[in-house]
Amino acid sequence: MNPLNHVAIIMDGNGRWGLKNKKSRNAGHKAGLKTVETIIKASIKNKIKFLTLFAFSTENWKRPKKEIKYLFGLLENFLRSKIDDLNKQNIKLKFIGNKNFSIKLNKLLNSAEKKTYNNKTLQINLALNYGSKDELLDAFKNMQRKKIKVNEKNFIKYLQTKDMPDPDLLIRTGNTNRLSNFLLWQLAYSEIFFEKKLWPEFKEKDYNKILKKFKLIKRNFGNI
Ligand code: FPP
Repeated sequence: MNPLNHVAIIMDGNGRWGLKNKKSRNAGHKAGLKTVETIIKASIKNKIKFLTLFAFSTENWKRPKKEIKYLFGLLENFLRSKIDDLNKQNIKLKFIGNKNFSIKLNKLLNSAEKKTYNNKTLQINLALNYGSKDELLDAFKNMQRKKIKVNEKNFIKYLQTKDMPDPDLLIRTGNTNRLSNFLLWQLAYSEIFFEKKLWPEFKEKDYNKILKKFKLIKRNFGNI
């Protein structure tokens, strides 16, 4: 059976779920947050060590202001109300992406990271204002600036995912089969599952079904 240390998820379909069920895209985001909590619990049960969630991409700034405001409001609320609980569960929070937010939000993100820094049960990487192309270009630029030789071993130290294994598994919900500028380097050998259900409809049993299938795949990593 394949070891499973790192699961990455593109949580797609909130907006469509909201329109289908409650008539607003934001209602879909609110419901999507419940799925986030379910999947965190299920990941701990499955002894997964790293869970990377794509919450907001560099391209998501193109959305209407009202939706962006709502998403960041949800995030702030979530962090303020759940940080102690996450900490008690020994969960470590890390934010990947470009942290050029307001001083207030940056403070909140930094304090959540600091508070949970030594936790060991599960590391959650929340990708916020994240774009893989930006991450790769920044890595190259920083290496060039410091005159570091470009090879794979050095390069991965300049990625935001340094100090963690690459995802074993990528799940994308929402019946859309693309990577959307997410972890393009890190997903080189990940197993990919595209799930038809929209993120708010994605339940623990759906997650467990995928984990079970993943464990039985023959992973070759280019070998035979
Ligand atoms: C993609 O669905 C989802 C997002 C851009 C945001 C993800 C946010 C959450 C799951 C809730 C908030 C999470 C935290 C951790 C605070 P979409 O809106 O692109 O869906 P669509 O394809 O149906 O439009």
